[in-house]
Amino acid sequence: MAQAWGEWAGLAYQNGTYTAYVWGAKYLDVGRQNEVQTIRGTGPASKADFFYGAATTLAEHKFISSDSNCDRCHDYVLMHGGGRRGLTACLPCHSVGGTEDMPKYNLTNAQYSSSKATTRTTVEFRQMLHKLHMGEELTNASTWAVIGYGGSYNQYSEVVFPTMPGLAKHCDVCHGSTDTSWKQPSSRAHASQTVPTRNWFIVCSSCHDSTDLEAHAQINTAGYADAGAGANYVETAGTEACGACHGPGAERSVELMHKNR
Ligand code: HEC
Ligand code: HEC
Ligand code: HEC
Ligand code: HEC
Ligand code: HEC
Repeated sequence: MAQAWGEWAGLAYQNGTYTAYVWGAKYLDVGRQNEVQTIRGTGPASKADFFYGAATTLAEHKFISSDSNCDRCHDYVLMHGGGRRGLTACLPCHSVGGTEDMPKYNLTNAQYSSSKATTRTTVEFRQMLHKLHMGEELTNASTWAVIGYGGSYNQYSEVVFPTMPGLAKHCDVCHGSTDTSWKQPSSRAHASQTVPTRNWFIVCSSCHDSTDLEAHAQINTAGYADAGAGANYVETAGTEACGACHGPGAERSVELMHKNR
């Protein structure tokens, strides 16, 4: 997915705030009528921020005001065989720029591999979590898929985000009324990267997944070069002008465009 989507792989460590996450799980064997079931119970994760290098100001990774915002609809978010619980437990992997799903040769069911390729899929939450809640409202709902754990083929084309009116337009339901990060994507640039980061495109194109939007984003990205048919579009870079029209206070600001009336 490369640097255009904020991937830092292979680049030097920067001064700044780093985070360590810790969680634990317990296995219980329950025997009933000559059958043993192993049940896994998992606690929510804890995290600790620390400074690296010359950093002295805390820059917390926080785009969701509280994990409990998710519990409004989920009893608690539990994934990967019950081994991860609550949003904080997802972030060490799912907030890393450019993280990809499994290659499709991992699919357990061979029939998928020829007909159902996953192109343009990342499991990073700026994309995947928005997309899977946009669900059936996506332009490409019937084709978007994530190759997941154990080679499973996951689609979310029947998900309906149950907030009315406007469905997934309710940004603050997840982000929280005190969070402002959803109103404008933050910079994900590394000091020594060689191409500009497309902070807006990765977020906005998650729910707005039409080719019209892609074209709109491209003409508003200075220096954008189309890598050609069949190429992975995220490899191409350029400086985004989105903030001029969609930034805070602008005529079509993110906040105004997603107001629920
Ligand atoms: C307004 C309701 C609502 C809120 C708030 C919400 N979700 Fe969901 N979520 C849903 C619905 C509906 C589905 C689809 C049905 C299902 O799989 O449970 C879903 C599905 C999911 C899935 C896919 C589950 C799977 O089995 O593949 C994940 C992961 C998820 N949500 C995580 C989160 C996280 C993390 C948050 C908080 C940042 C959150 N959700 C907030 C309604 C919500
Ligand atoms: C240790 C890293 C890690 C953690 C922690 C983690 N995930 Fe994942 N997750 C992945 C990877 C990697 C994939 C892509 C599929 C693969 O490679 O197995 C994935 C795939 C997914 C998928 C796609 C569907 C599927 O079934 O695979 C969903 C949904 C998901 N994760 C949700 C979550 C949620 C919610 C949490 C926190 C409660 C979480 N993950 C914690 C690494 C992680
Ligand atoms: C289902 C829950 C959910 C909903 C609804 C949701 N978001 Fe998000 N959003 C997330 C999560 C989770 C992240 C990534 C958090 C992380 O990486 O720590 C995120 C990240 C973002 C970011 C990146 C912030 C940054 O500075 O990098 C922006 C911008 C954003 N969302 C905008 C929106 C907008 C606009 C809407 C409404 C139209 C919206 N979100 C609705 C869950 C949600
Ligand atoms: C979680 C899903 C989600 C995310 C993320 C999201 N949007 Fe939206 N947006 C919607 C929905 C739903 C609507 C209302 C339905 C529609 O017009 O498609 C909407 C409407 C809009 C509109 C009004 C369009 C019209 O024709 O009235 C604009 C402009 C817009 N969004 C811009 C953005 C920008 C810029 C971003 C990135 C910062 C973004 N959106 C991120 C879901 C999202
Ligand atoms: C010169 C002003 C301008 C710039 C710069 C701009 N946009 Fe827009 N954008 C608009 C207008 C006008 C609309 C249509 C809004 C409406 O329908 O009310 C729009 C609509 C959108 C929508 C909603 C599309 C839909 O599905 O209805 C998204 C998402 C969006 N822009 C993202 C972006 C991104 C990402 C960038 C930067 C790469 C960007 N825009 C740069 C003016 C701009």
